[in-house]
Amino acid sequence: MRDKAIITSALPYANGEIHLGHVASTYLPADVTTRFLKQKGVEAYYICASDDFGTPILIQSEKEGKNPSEYVAYWNKRDYEDFTAFGIDFDFFYHTSSSENIKFVQYVFDKLNAAGHIYKKEIIQFYCNNDKKFLPDRYVKGICPYCKAEDQYSDLCESCGRVPDEISNPKCAICGSIPTKEKTNHYFFRLKNFEDSLSKWLDKNENLQKDVKKYVQNWIKSGLVDWDITRDITWGVPIPLGEAKGKVFYGWFDNHLAYISSSIKFLDEKGINGKEFWNAADIYHFIGKDIVYHHYLFLPAMRLGIEEEYKLPDYIPTRGHLTLQSKKISKSRNWYIGLKEFLEYYPADYLRYYLVAINPYSQDDLNFDWNDFTTRINSELIGNLGNFVNRALGFTKKAFMGKVPEPDEFDDMDKDAEIKIKKMSGEIETLMEQNHLDRALKKIMEFSSFFNQYFQHKEPWKKEPGTSTCVYLSVNAARSLSILLYSFIPNSSQKIWVQLGLQGSVKDFKWDSLSNLEIKPGHCLGDVSPIFSKVEQDETEKYKKQLGPSE
Ligand code: 2FM
Ligand code: ZN
Repeated sequence: MRDKAIITSALPYANGEIHLGHVASTYLPADVTTRFLKQKGVEAYYICASDDFGTPILIQSEKEGKNPSEYVAYWNKRDYEDFTAFGIDFDFFYHTSSSENIKFVQYVFDKLNAAGHIYKKEIIQFYCNNDKKFLPDRYVKGICPYCKAEDQYSDLCESCGRVPDEISNPKCAICGSIPTKEKTNHYFFRLKNFEDSLSKWLDKNENLQKDVKKYVQNWIKSGLVDWDITRDITWGVPIPLGEAKGKVFYGWFDNHLAYISSSIKFLDEKGINGKEFWNAADIYHFIGKDIVYHHYLFLPAMRLGIEEEYKLPDYIPTRGHLTLQSKKISKSRNWYIGLKEFLEYYPADYLRYYLVAINPYSQDDLNFDWNDFTTRINSELIGNLGNFVNRALGFTKKAFMGKVPEPDEFDDMDKDAEIKIKKMSGEIETLMEQNHLDRALKKIMEFSSFFNQYFQHKEPWKKEPGTSTCVYLSVNAARSLSILLYSFIPNSSQKIWVQLGLQGSVKDFKWDSLSNLEIKPGHCLGDVSPIFSKVEQDETEKYKKQLGPSE
């Protein structure tokens, strides 16, 4: 672990609301990791941006009669607000259409071009004589040649998930007329040039997930294909060549460069040399498994192509997709739950807890299930954690007027409890560093459960010898829990902190201090009340209907 880190998560397209699927695989794991790194004393920054360019966004803005800049500005703001309500704490949220990114993308292109990594080639593209424009990607609809589904985009069949080589019965997506095929010059990135260097980079990077690495290596073995980085549309980063007037870059050429350009802007404005920081930091790109190709091949190849002026990623934590009641999320089929709406019904921490708990560090899909959500919140968050904290603090209030007593001698069970507190920071840290956030959370909940049993077994309400020790250790365990849980459920963790009568914000307390018994005899607790409230099954049923999705 370096003492600096930049964390990014896949940039959300600026064309729709954030839903549970987005946050589960990418933004939440990145947020939890950043918060943890900060607690560890790492100078860490979480940088994100809206992904503004590309054909789908242009088409959507045209459909809604808006100009694309206004359109993406709306979604940039809305997405940021939704993320914030969920406790996703970006240090900087920018946009790929920023002047800084445009400049940087053109700089990178020029450098790649000068190094011989770009070539021009004439290709044939669909053209609409009625709209007088080329029709890349989503501008053409037709029949999928594989599964024969009708009304599919030329760049993706939503029915079978494949990318057609050539769509059958093509029609212009704007006016429905039959397009002609015309010649146009496109620029290509020589991805093929990078087969060896990418392979070496993958081999030596121990931090990348082994299974992902394996199949990326197989792609390389079966041969990479040069990459068309041009679009004949008006919305995008202009290609900086006189002969390329009217052409822009494909969105995947420019979007990931905003990881760098946004970081540099943010850091430079803070008075830190952005480039030096980037190259001295651990670089994390959190993604979902659908964009492995882009992050394990295009992105590193482009950085290699500019001679690693900005270092390649150290970690690309890749996770599976969220399904909803075991069915694939689909916005077009209205099978999704919007984040904003969900948070009108349940606290952010309930969702954060659940989505981390069910989310392994792997590419396996994870499933949001209403019953499971209700059960886990009630039994784990409330029955275990909430119960322990409330019992320990409530009892101290009642029996000792909120003043932590001087402990008596420690018996074996007390000694065990003390050891548990002392060992926690190291155990959890290892799992967090390995990206096993779900396992770390599980272990923290086991710690809480241990203390629940300890408290129960000690029966302090009988006021027998040992009571003071039990209270003293339990209050300290609650303090450890507050620090341990900060990155997962920050609001609740702060509530525990305040009820413990501790000053300031839990986030300012360094990780390692969680293993100390820092609450001393004589310390006075704050006001104590339940941290969570029960999720009622019949309410869940009601919300489930209101929130959708509808079958
Ligand atoms: O797949 C997506 O949603 C893209 N908007 C992700 C972009 S990440 C990039 F910038 F690298
Ligand atoms: Zn047309």
